[in-house]
Amino acid sequence: MLLLRVLFLVSVCLGAKAFVLSSGGGGGSALGKRGFAMAHQSGHCDVAMQEVAGEVTNNGADASNSEEPACYACRQPKWVSNGTKGRKPVIFLSRHGQSMANVQDMIGMNEGLSPAGAKYAGRLGRWLRENLNFEDGNFVIVRSDMVRTTETVEQLRETLDGHHTIEVRDCLNEINAGDYEGYTFSEFRAKAEHEHQARKKDKLRYRYPRGESYEDVLRRVSPAVNEIRQLEGDGKDVLVVAHQATLRCVLALLTGLTEEDPECIPELTIPLHSMVRLERQEGGKDGKACKYGIVETFTLGGTGPEGH
Ligand code: F6P
Repeated sequence: MLLLRVLFLVSVCLGAKAFVLSSGGGGGSALGKRGFAMAHQSGHCDVAMQEVAGEVTNNGADASNSEEPACYACRQPKWVSNGTKGRKPVIFLSRHGQSMANVQDMIGMNEGLSPAGAKYAGRLGRWLRENLNFEDGNFVIVRSDMVRTTETVEQLRETLDGHHTIEVRDCLNEINAGDYEGYTFSEFRAKAEHEHQARKKDKLRYRYPRGESYEDVLRRVSPAVNEIRQLEGDGKDVLVVAHQATLRCVLALLTGLTEEDPECIPELTIPLHSMVRLERQEGGKDGKACKYGIVETFTLGGTGPEGH
């Protein structure tokens, strides 16, 4: 019986531990929140392993080479929304489907989707159609302006049949690795040992030569995050389709991690083919900035591809 499924490993700032955000029905939601809160409150990047009780939400298949699992949707924590009446609007975060650069473990670049990535886009669209009621036109997709997010969202467009709005924001594009775009991660370690060490030592502030740091990305994505807050405040459900580094920053800005534990931001693990669901926890009144909390996290149709 597979009752323990690790979905989100926040790999480590300062050690070899990991904390897990997982979901499995109602139990997973709470655990997801707690797992994240633990990293939040720790004040450093030590992390704790969370166990997931309850039903797992995937069948353990590797999305990169498996066929569509039977009834993937029934394995997901199911909630059917009734528009904005009687429930909070939702913010979802998802990376694009696996790209050809992901397959080659390459830093950056602007590649299209791999076959497994294209399958994920299909699954994502069907999952949204089955689990959200967006007939009222309250569903907005905000994506970056790169080939892999464009291709992912193009497939959603077909499945969602026009019941949504798409906003494109290039400030959500992936971190610019400057001179090291197109290196593989192992080439970067081997051929740019000094840069690699500097990044490892201070990933938040390290800036790739002629590229960006996480601090730069936090500043860059901030206007899009404000727009996302605004959309949510207007009662819209929002899906953000972007990238590993930019979604770490979006997540940190939405949840307040930027103030509470910024060093952890570059270590948040947001795997491919997974979703993070956030809801407003506090604020939004009397001029207070809203804060959002993770309600659940889940993969769609498998554990997702290995790799970065
Ligand atoms: O590997 C996918 C990717 O999106 C790269 O394009 C990007 O450079 C990297 O992840 C960002 O993650 P990290 O900051 O951990 O290298």
